[in-house]
Amino acid sequence: MKTITLTAHAKLNLSLDILRKREDGYHDLRMVMQSISLHDDVTVEEVDGSGIRAATNLDYLPQDDKNLAVRAAHAFFAATGLPEVGLRITIEKRIPVCAGMAGGSTDAAAVLRALRALYAPHLTDGELERMGETVGSDVPYCVRGGTALAEGRGERLTTLPALPTCFVVVCKPAFSISTPELFGRVRVGELVLHPDTEGLCRALAAGELGGVARRMYNVFEDVLPGAYREVFSIRSRLLEGGALGAIMTGSGPTVFGLFQEETQAKAAFAALSAAYPQTFLEKTV
Ligand code: C5P
Repeated sequence: MKTITLTAHAKLNLSLDILRKREDGYHDLRMVMQSISLHDDVTVEEVDGSGIRAATNLDYLPQDDKNLAVRAAHAFFAATGLPEVGLRITIEKRIPVCAGMAGGSTDAAAVLRALRALYAPHLTDGELERMGETVGSDVPYCVRGGTALAEGRGERLTTLPALPTCFVVVCKPAFSISTPELFGRVRVGELVLHPDTEGLCRALAAGELGGVARRMYNVFEDVLPGAYREVFSIRSRLLEGGALGAIMTGSGPTVFGLFQEETQAKAAFAALSAAYPQTFLEKTV
């Protein structure tokens, strides 16, 4: 029986800007995305019989079509016209759930890449990214990975020069934030600050880590409900610990900081992990 295991990397937003609300209810975004070493392991196995199911080490996650990984498998067979086979998808989750790190989307993207490897090796990355669009806004980026500008709903991608090597401390507080709810709080005309996306892209092109870190900004930080103020205290702790820049990723609540110095990153990681079990010391990939 055919089987394959792939790594599914988490993403961070080096920037997140909301440009306008669209007629279809989505928002036009402008985001610089970065994948990091933190990852899930996704195994796709062909099994006897029909049906596609997902099992994870977190028993509260759905195993049926509510799981993006299962939806991605259905989207793959629908788009390619290949007959659907029975599949068991096993996901070893390490990326925190509902955290702004595209955990579900990256598992879905890994399923698309796995099914391409098993059944349709001729498919291009572009074709796989378009399949991902139907599964979720972040899935096309997760197919591509690396450093990229994501526009439109998140599906219009431009690969950017890689972020210079650095250390990343990632910290997720215990609560979760609903993405649609946070989008619902945004009045685009009332946003006071926007990230300097062009400047950030120029800093990437020049290989200036400090220039990137200084320009990191996420407009969602502007509309966070007061109950989520812990995000700002984590951000301050990262900056006081020597981070060149620190922001919330995606719709949060995870906060990360970029560090040039390993010793500072390790110290910040140790201090935060004492208070927040879901703290990670990672590198960019
Ligand atoms: O595409 P996805 O299912 O990941 O999006 C989740 C929710 O986030 C959408 O239902 C929508 O409320 C919001 N969203 C948005 N604009 C985007 C992406 C997501 O408003 N570009």
